[in-house]
Order: sequence, then C-alpha cells, then structure tokens
Amino acid sequence: MNRRHFLSKLGWTSFWTAVVGMVAGLARSMYPNVLYEPSRKYKVGYPADFARDVVTPLPGEKLFIYNDSKQGFYAISGICTHLGCVVSKTQEGFFCPCHGSRFDHSGKVKAGPAPRPLPWYRVSLALDGQLVVDAGEEVKPGTTLPI
Ligand code: FES
Repeated sequence: MNRRHFLSKLGWTSFWTAVVGMVAGLARSMYPNVLYEPSRKYKVGYPADFARDVVTPLPGEKLFIYNDSKQGFYAISGICTHLGCVVSKTQEGFFCPCHGSRFDHSGKVKAGPAPRPLPWYRVSLALDGQLVVDAGEEVKPGTTLPI
C-alpha cells in the first residue's frame, strides 16, 4: 500500500465514522432522556367513607384528608418541609419526630426548623364519585372541595 492509497482509506474511514456518528446521534435524539415517575394522583375513596370533622391519615400516600363539615374536603401533605420525614397527627396539629417541627391543623409552622408550611394538594371528584388527591399540584391553604 502506497502513501496515497493509505491516506485515501484513512479519509474515507473518517468520513463514514462521522456519518455513522451523526445518524446515531439523530436516532438517539428521537428518544428523549426522560425519567417516567408514577402518577401522584391518588383515588382515596368515596366521600361517604370519611367521617365528618375527622382527619384521616393515609400513610401509604403520606397525606392527611380532612372532611370538614363547614369547608369540605382538603388534603395536607404528611411530609415535613425540613428534610422530608413523615409527620404524625397530634392534638395541636402535626409533629415531625425527626427534628421536632410542629405545625398547626392547617399545616402552618408553629415551631422547629421546618422552613415552610405543609403543602395543601388539590382534591377533586373522579367520574366514579371517588375523591382524587393530586399530590403533584399544590393549592393555596384554604382551598377545599365543598360537597
Ligand atoms: S425533617 Fe421534620 S423537622 Fe427535620
């Protein structure tokens, strides 16, 4: 193989390597690099399943559902806004066992290192009449689903 032949082969090899790389990159761009998370909308049961003026903890979803006879239904997160521990219900509101944050019944911070109140989530009715909590959509505290 002489020098001219060698350089020609090297050039064509480089060219086809670049073409294959571009085609592979184009094909890869058609499949976005997305992490699919499970839905954070939960059907939590029928309104009649929740006793009036009682807070119902849903440990699996880390939520508390209120059935307030005056305001309607609302949902408050059970995840502490400090470092994410699960809060528990107390007589005064909520308590985080990890670092001692305390929240009132509406989730406002009363004491502790928690920087923000517990979020409220949108509650709606599904077509089958069950309550749906969308833990992916925070709402202003005081937003309820009157039934
Ligand atoms: S995680 Fe709740 S107070 Fe720290």
